[in-house]
Amino acid sequence: MDQTITYKSVSITVRRDDLLHKDISGNKFRKLKYNIEHANMINAKGVLTFGGAFSNHIAATAAAGSLYSINTIGVIRGQEWEHKITTNPTLSFAQNKGMNFYFTTRDEYKRRHTSDYIEELQNKYPGYYVVPEGGSNNLAILGCQEIIDPTIDSKYNYICCAVGTGATISGIANLLMPQQKAIGFVALNDFSIIDQINVWSNNRVCDLELNYNYNLGAYAKINNQLVQFINDFFNKFEIPLDPIYTGKMFYGIFDMIDKNIIEPYSKILAIHTGGLQGIQGINEKLKKKNKELIQVIF
Ligand SMILES: Cc1ncc(COP(=O)(O)O)c(C=O)c1O
Repeated sequence: MDQTITYKSVSITVRRDDLLHKDISGNKFRKLKYNIEHANMINAKGVLTFGGAFSNHIAATAAAGSLYSINTIGVIRGQEWEHKITTNPTLSFAQNKGMNFYFTTRDEYKRRHTSDYIEELQNKYPGYYVVPEGGSNNLAILGCQEIIDPTIDSKYNYICCAVGTGATISGIANLLMPQQKAIGFVALNDFSIIDQINVWSNNRVCDLELNYNYNLGAYAKINNQLVQFINDFFNKFEIPLDPIYTGKMFYGIFDMIDKNIIEPYSKILAIHTGGLQGIQGINEKLKKKNKELIQVIF
C-alpha cells in the first residue's frame, strides 16, 4: 500500500511495507520470502540466523518459522542475554514463536561472516540452512527487488530507503531507471557497506548515494529531537516510524528538503521498511532515563 504525504512542495509517497504482515514486516518480509522458500525446497531441518538482542530480523525469522512450521535458531550477540530473555521484548517474542537461541560472546559474534565459523555452526546444528545477519544474501536481494514496481514507479525522482547491511537498497538499485536516484540513509558508521552494495547491485552504485548524516553518530543512538520528530510525524500523518531506521530516514528526508538538497517539487518514493517491533525495547531504555517516549500505535 502507498500513502502520499506532502512536505513543503515535495510529494513523498510512503510505500507501507510495514503493513505487509503483522510480525514479518517491511524488508524482513521481502528478504525472508525466497529464503524460507529455499529452506523448504532443500528440506532443511530449520533456519539458523544471526542478530543482536533487539534485532528486527530475529523477530521476523522466528515469526516466519512459526507460520511455516520451520525450526529456527537465533545466534544472538551477547551471552548476558541468556538469563534475561524475559526482560527483552524481542527475545521473548522470538522464544514464544518457537525460536531456540545460541548466545555468543561479542568476540565470537564477530566471526559470523567467516566460512570456518559457519562450518562450525553447521556441525553443531546439522541440516540447518544458514541465513546471514539481517537476512541479507542473494535471495534477499531478489525479494527486495519486488519492493519496486517498474510500471508505476518511474515517476519518482528519488527512491529513499534506510540502510543497514545494504541488501534492501541493492535490490532497489537493481531496478532504478536512468532518471532516478536512490538515497540510502545509513543507520551505522560502517563505510565499507558500499563495497557489498556494489556486489549485490551489479555496480549500480553510480546511481545511489549513501547518506551518513542522520544516524546521530552511531547505530541505535537516539535523542529527544528524533523522538519528538517520530511523535509529531505520527500525529500528523498517522504513520508510525521506528527510531533506528525509518525515523532517521524521514528525519533526513525532511532536513534535506528544508535545505533544498532535495529540490522543490521533487517526487520521492520512501520505503517504510518496518522495524516497529523495536520500539518497545527502546521505550524501556528511555523510561529508565526519564526521557520522552515514542508514542505511536501500530
Ligand atoms: C526496519 C529496517 N529498515 C531497514 C533496514 C536495513 O536493511 P538492509 O540491512 O537491507 O540495509 C533494517 C535492517 O537491516 C531494518 O530492520
